Amino acid sequence: MTRKKITVLDLQKKFEVGERIAMVTAYDYPSAVLAEKAGVDIILVGDSLGMVVHGFESTVPVTMEMMILHCAAVSRARSAAFLIGDMPFGSYEVSKEEAVRNAVRLVKEGYVEAVKLEGGREVAGTVEAITRAGVLVQGHIGLTPQSAAKLGGFRVQGKSARSARALLDDALALQEAGCTSLVLEAVPDRVADTITEMLRIPTVGIGAGPGTAGQVLVWHDMLGLFDRFQPKFSKRFENAGETIQRGLTAFVEQVRGGTFPGPEHVFTISDEEWSAFEQGLQAGSDVGEEMGLYGG
Ligand code: KIV
Repeated sequence: MTRKKITVLDLQKKFEVGERIAMVTAYDYPSAVLAEKAGVDIILVGDSLGMVVHGFESTVPVTMEMMILHCAAVSRARSAAFLIGDMPFGSYEVSKEEAVRNAVRLVKEGYVEAVKLEGGREVAGTVEAITRAGVLVQGHIGLTPQSAAKLGGFRVQGKSARSARALLDDALALQEAGCTSLVLEAVPDRVADTITEMLRIPTVGIGAGPGTAGQVLVWHDMLGLFDRFQPKFSKRFENAGETIQRGLTAFVEQVRGGTFPGPEHVFTISDEEWSAFEQGLQAGSDVGEEMGLYGG
């Protein structure tokens, strides 16, 4: 059954009536099809793809070209889910003009419905410029992986009264700048709850406790496809890695043992065509052309 397209207004409505928002990352067409079948509200093409798909140590090396390629692939699933694409590191810091240009590219070439960018008050002016250009923006505060080096690593944010207050001020500034939702990553639950209560826009938590308006997880973490590390806040709902591994091992064994392909995977030629082929071979004629084997 096809679902009704989810818009930014539907997400706001869900928040207002207390219906929780389910958001998941996806980076390619088949994943987006599965996410859609599961009924997720938002698909995020996160720059986490740099780590979980491309094998980088961080999200920093991700480029606009990579984001556009993955966003466009996900968009072809034509899902009802609201589609958001991450602005990669370096695509919105240099100037507001460049930020607007890159946000517009993600919409025009990656077919996303909104962009997400990391940072608090320091990016409020950029968020304002992008929204003024007609592009919806999701904010992202707390642990912001693009600036993990500045934060001293992948660490929980807002643990002191002072930094919790700074997070709240960031959240309010992003809302004023025009963000339509806000990701809170690796933030103590009570801090996330207070931010959620004080905002008019939905918060989506990852490692921010159960009180945010929605929850987001990274595809590879939640499905057991990333073995480098498992963040404390991520729950492994399935172990797809093990399932895929079993399938691949069986393939290798069957190829080596000669049991794949079996008769059901083999194309046949009729006896009549086969004897014509053999006769042609014996006569030394150009059988391929006579039989139209090469597209004739
Ligand atoms: O890049 C990403 O996947 C994200 C989520 C963790 C929210 O930003």
